[in-house]
Amino acid sequence: MHNKIFKNKKILLGVTGCIAAYKAAFLTRDLKILGAEVKVIMTTSATEFISPLTLSTLSENTVIINTFPLSNNENPEMGTWHIDSALWADLMIIAPCTINTVAKIAHGFADNALTTIVTALRSPLLVCPAADVDMYNNKITQKNIQTLKDFGINILDAEEGELASGLKGKGRLPELNKIIDAAALILSGSKKKDLTNKKILITAGPTYEDIDPVRFIGNRSSGKMGYWLAKASYLRGADVTLISGPSSENIYPEVNYIYVRSADEMEKAVKQNLKTNDILIMSAAVADYRPQKIVKNKIKKENKLSSIKLKENNDILASVDKKDKYVVGFALETENGIANAKKKLKNKDLDMIVLNVLKSKQSGFDTDTNKIKILKKNGNTKDFPVTSKFLAANNILSEIVKTIK
Ligand code: CTP
Repeated sequence: MHNKIFKNKKILLGVTGCIAAYKAAFLTRDLKILGAEVKVIMTTSATEFISPLTLSTLSENTVIINTFPLSNNENPEMGTWHIDSALWADLMIIAPCTINTVAKIAHGFADNALTTIVTALRSPLLVCPAADVDMYNNKITQKNIQTLKDFGINILDAEEGELASGLKGKGRLPELNKIIDAAALILSGSKKKDLTNKKILITAGPTYEDIDPVRFIGNRSSGKMGYWLAKASYLRGADVTLISGPSSENIYPEVNYIYVRSADEMEKAVKQNLKTNDILIMSAAVADYRPQKIVKNKIKKENKLSSIKLKENNDILASVDKKDKYVVGFALETENGIANAKKKLKNKDLDMIVLNVLKSKQSGFDTDTNKIKILKKNGNTKDFPVTSKFLAANNILSEIVKTIK
């Protein structure tokens, strides 16, 4: 998904002394698979948890641990290595970052190789703090994390869950896919946290309209576009609720997730949740029709079924109360795309519609890429090239931000 973003990017990966340090091996490997160059810097405590040899082998680079050469004969010409490394990087990620290192960065300490590089860094910095629950929730830690945020440093908050101590709570290093998504967002140049204090309701996936206990009418939507919209909105600071039809996509634990099956269930969930949200993005492929009645028992072949009577579903987008809401719809078209999208924009009284032209193999259902065109209420239109659905989601969010700010 993020190959184009990471290709040939130079990433410094800082690793500190926390039980989650072993995950740095997987992170290094994933970044390398995405095409990035990776240089690892460890604190001495990190070497208690994972061997530098593991990380130098996976990164194909020497691991930096010491500020000074260990002997007079070792690399005497490397006097400005910390400046060279800091200037080399397109991005520095510290994962996991202990509360000790968070505190040091917050106060400008440069007492080891890792913190020295941080002070010299010109590239963006992504810090992923991790600790046991009480250490993480500690008021001083929280103040230090806030200090980093105030300095414009990107923070990926720890996740809730089982901790190494056996306690449960906030403090886990986020899943690696989320760290990589957050890094991709920074590398793609999107404005960080521009959706802070916004509440966004997103629908995704298909709806299934049951015929009998084993069969349904569905469509080929995978949900990918809506899930990327939800993930990108979260990374950009929004409070996100995702209402999803059946989909095999994964979502971050911080996104409020509501599973629905039918258009009717989706309508109820949207109407219930819209009141407390500022923005609605309807990317779900809602079925227009459902069987008039759901047959209680499995329909047998000998019944010689030749037709199913259908009933029209409500149009959720057209019928929601849009007062004080910014409402975005999608139009998936195989022909007369622009004309049909304009009609939907007007008839459903939308602020914006995203046209998805289903002509190319790089666009539409179950692909990882999309080609979109955005049409706004004020008549403005914008064409985008084929991009990953992650970047398409971010382009849509940037257009929303431009209009609502
Ligand atoms: N939509 C909806 N409720 C429905 C059908 C569609 O809210 N019952 C929403 C979709 O989520 C999408 C927009 O309306 O944001 C357009 O959906 P689309 O299927 O392209 O349009 P329809 O109005 O159903 O028209 P048609 O199927 O004839 O193209």
